[in-house]
Amino acid sequence: MTNKLEHIAVIMDGNGRWAAKRGLPRNAGHKKGAEVVIEVAKAAKELGVKFLTLYAFSTENWKRSREEVDGLMNLLREYLAKDFKELKENDVRIRFIGERQMLADDIVAKMEELEKSTAQNKSLGLQIALSYGSRQEILHAVKQIAAEVKSGDISLKDIDEQTFSAMLYTAGVPDPDLVIRTSGEQRISNYLLWQIAYAEFFFTKTLWPDFNKNELREIIENYQTRERRYGKA
Ligand code: IPE
Ligand code: IPE
Ligand code: MG
Repeated sequence: MTNKLEHIAVIMDGNGRWAAKRGLPRNAGHKKGAEVVIEVAKAAKELGVKFLTLYAFSTENWKRSREEVDGLMNLLREYLAKDFKELKENDVRIRFIGERQMLADDIVAKMEELEKSTAQNKSLGLQIALSYGSRQEILHAVKQIAAEVKSGDISLKDIDEQTFSAMLYTAGVPDPDLVIRTSGEQRISNYLLWQIAYAEFFFTKTLWPDFNKNELREIIENYQTRERRYGKA
């Protein structure tokens, strides 16, 4: 028996420590980490995964130094300017989830352009969580629902798990089957709290810049040995 594996979510952690080990500035770790993003997205597609959600920058990451945040935003600009070319060529559909109003206008404009130009791609749905926080996402949905109830567009009895899921940034994407976190930390850090209710977890000590297709394949093999029970006996 094999488990269904449509969607993998990854907490890409450990860029700073990867750089520190080499006596490099933290942003050198982010640069290498960004290269791994492209490689792993291609690998996921080749391994038959339908959706991949990558945690690139959390709402809490805005609290980092100006230098680090600027470095990360400029790295993003660089990839957006190149149009995430390799991913586009690989038939990847790109969508960003998170608080867009926190990001610079030029970045948001390019993000929207990229979402539009890849909307018809079919091989892999890549969601990049950027300025993303799960509690904020849930609050956003709650406010939207409250407003719709108030205006009479929906009634209280119509609110169920499905309608709520459809209000989240991840609307239309099945819940993650598997969550991977690199760097040895074993926590969720405000990621997809609603969506991971029944996800399987895999924590690896590998730092994100050292992560690769082989390890992804091994983790998938491990996932396939698990028994998902969903509360049933
Ligand atoms: C993950 O690596 C990337 C981001 C959070 C932007 P970190 O920057 O958190 O690296 P560590 O955890 O300090 O090693
Ligand atoms: C989580 O990593 C966010 C991303 C990977 C983008 P952090 O490094 O920010 O998380 P904490 O602070 O260790 O929980
Ligand atoms: Mg970290």
